[in-house]
Amino acid sequence: MKKVDNLKQRNIYPVFGRMLTRADKEILLKQRSVMIWFTGLSGSGKSTIAIALERELHKRGLLCKILDGDNIRSGINNNLGFSEEDRVENIRRIAEVSRLFLDSGVITIAAFISPNSSMREMAAEIIGKEDFFEIHVSTPIEECERRDVKGLYAKARRGEIKDFTGVSSPFEAPENPALSLDTSRLTLEESVNQLLELILPRIEVGGYYFNYNI
Ligand code: ADX
Repeated sequence: MKKVDNLKQRNIYPVFGRMLTRADKEILLKQRSVMIWFTGLSGSGKSTIAIALERELHKRGLLCKILDGDNIRSGINNNLGFSEEDRVENIRRIAEVSRLFLDSGVITIAAFISPNSSMREMAAEIIGKEDFFEIHVSTPIEECERRDVKGLYAKARRGEIKDFTGVSSPFEAPENPALSLDTSRLTLEESVNQLLELILPRIEVGGYYFNYNI
């Protein structure tokens, strides 16, 4: 009691209940949160796989959030371009935002080129390596360029876009990804099945977990 009086005199009012934790949220959602980090060239299929994966997980009653290049760059990161420095800042913010989702128990799926090993390393450190699954969408550039869904490779070849990944800016393939998916060889369903096999055991929780007392 004396201790509290003391604190009152200093205008400090501690909250005696504790803030709910990630574990509490995971119990509520009946899932363990995890980060699925796709990396790969523009047009490699990152977003397509992310969307299909989210649907499969959702069907199983699992809550996910996708963070995607073009969406994030039109909102929270709309002040960033494609210089090395801006790409690092892009990935840093995305990693911090991802961490907030993970802390809320949500399975978080990021689809960004994230072209350098050092950027991905930074993201893994912010998020926590034990939660970070690096997935390389390894579709060869020839195929990405053949698809050229957004017409950006053609523009980059004409010199109308500078620092374009794979054309005038480097892409460093991950050395030890949790999974490599080449969408010129795999169907969308095959890619998603490989992902489910990898992550479902990590997401789904055993009964004992729910005996935990909030
Ligand atoms: S990252 O390199 O910073 O990770 P991010 O995934 O956010 O890139 O954004 C990539 C998307 O931005 C591409 O799919 C493409 O639509 C668009 N884009 C525009 N300019 C460039 C560029 N110079 N290099 C790569 N992608 C670009």
